[in-house]
Amino acid sequence: MKSINDVSFSGRKVLLRVDFNVPVDENKNITDDTRIREAMPTIDKLLGDGAALIIMAHFGRPKKGGFEADLSLKPVADYLSRILDKKVVFTQSLDFGEISSLASALKPGDVMMLENIRFYPEETKGDEAFARKLSQLGDCYVNDAFGAAHREHASTATIARFFPNDRYFGLLMENEVRNLNKLMQNPQRPFTAIIGGSKISSKIDVIKNLLPLVDNLVIGGGMSYTFAKAEGKAIGRSICEDDKMDIALELKAAAKAKGVNLYLPVDIVAGDSFSNDCNVKYCPQVDIPDGWEGMDAGEKTVKLFTDVIMNSKTILWNGPVGVFEFETFAKGTDAIAKAVAEATDKGAFSAVGGGDSVSAVNKSGFAERISYISTGGGAMLEFLEGKVLPGIKAIMD
Ligand code: 3PG
Repeated sequence: MKSINDVSFSGRKVLLRVDFNVPVDENKNITDDTRIREAMPTIDKLLGDGAALIIMAHFGRPKKGGFEADLSLKPVADYLSRILDKKVVFTQSLDFGEISSLASALKPGDVMMLENIRFYPEETKGDEAFARKLSQLGDCYVNDAFGAAHREHASTATIARFFPNDRYFGLLMENEVRNLNKLMQNPQRPFTAIIGGSKISSKIDVIKNLLPLVDNLVIGGGMSYTFAKAEGKAIGRSICEDDKMDIALELKAAAKAKGVNLYLPVDIVAGDSFSNDCNVKYCPQVDIPDGWEGMDAGEKTVKLFTDVIMNSKTILWNGPVGVFEFETFAKGTDAIAKAVAEATDKGAFSAVGGGDSVSAVNKSGFAERISYISTGGGAMLEFLEGKVLPGIKAIMD
């Protein structure tokens, strides 16, 4: 597959799919622009060549079919215009006649952004006729939307068919695929995966796919209480998926059978309600009284997890080990972020993915010291599950 760096896009109209599905506050201010910043190398390269860009992106999950003011990409187009320091042609109209004439008027160096591509119901259906219409706006296709690569949609996958000789990965996408392959194909050992987050159900397939690859599996956060309850421990009113307790025990047995060291929390910081200001109780074992819920890893757990991380050569981290969005319960997750950064300083290759763990490394200021931070949430998980992502396949086929 040719890299965009090996091609000149001078004078061409590039249809560029990005994932600018960024978090915004109630005033539509972007609260984390990572996905936009990470796409800048591709945008700079294409504009530097003298291409005109027609950017396609989605925002949220529109349900109605048609324009929804709340899910307009206007704030993102304005933000892009500010950071590029140039006008971004943008219309809230979904009329293809109007869009086509704006696209035809683009000159080299111009940037146009389409309104939320999911306002067209055909997008999420992967509709071929719609993809063809989109393809006619430009003369080549670059997909830099790793975060949406697990979606088989018109602008992420189907459209590639119309550019058999002129479709490329953007630099962000190339970087994601290279780093994830590095992790999954030939990791230096010991390889440690730290899997956290609230629900085991969303991580079962990832854990199953990782078990043959890793030396150490560290499980923390809300999902660890399903393991604890399945082992007969008292978890108070901690989050638990009762219907997944059997699977937790199966995963434990599978780890043992494969010689993978499984590490679960050994002490817990609990709260009496799900808030930052609740009463806090330290539980020296995973034995949480009624009326209390596990909110963070305790200090013995942090020490246990940190030692494993510090002795690893490859580290994958997905999901926090506590309710880190509450300051009171952020210590465990902050300590993991610090340990991953320190192990990386010592020469380990580290990869962090999933919205929450990425926010945690950003918040704690360790992001610069991580080898690779993925812009994909669901996309990264599906890659780690061993699935072929439609957005990647469409370019490779
Ligand atoms: C994401 O935010 O993970 C991607 O933009 C994909 O969004 P989706 O889950 O709505 O397809």
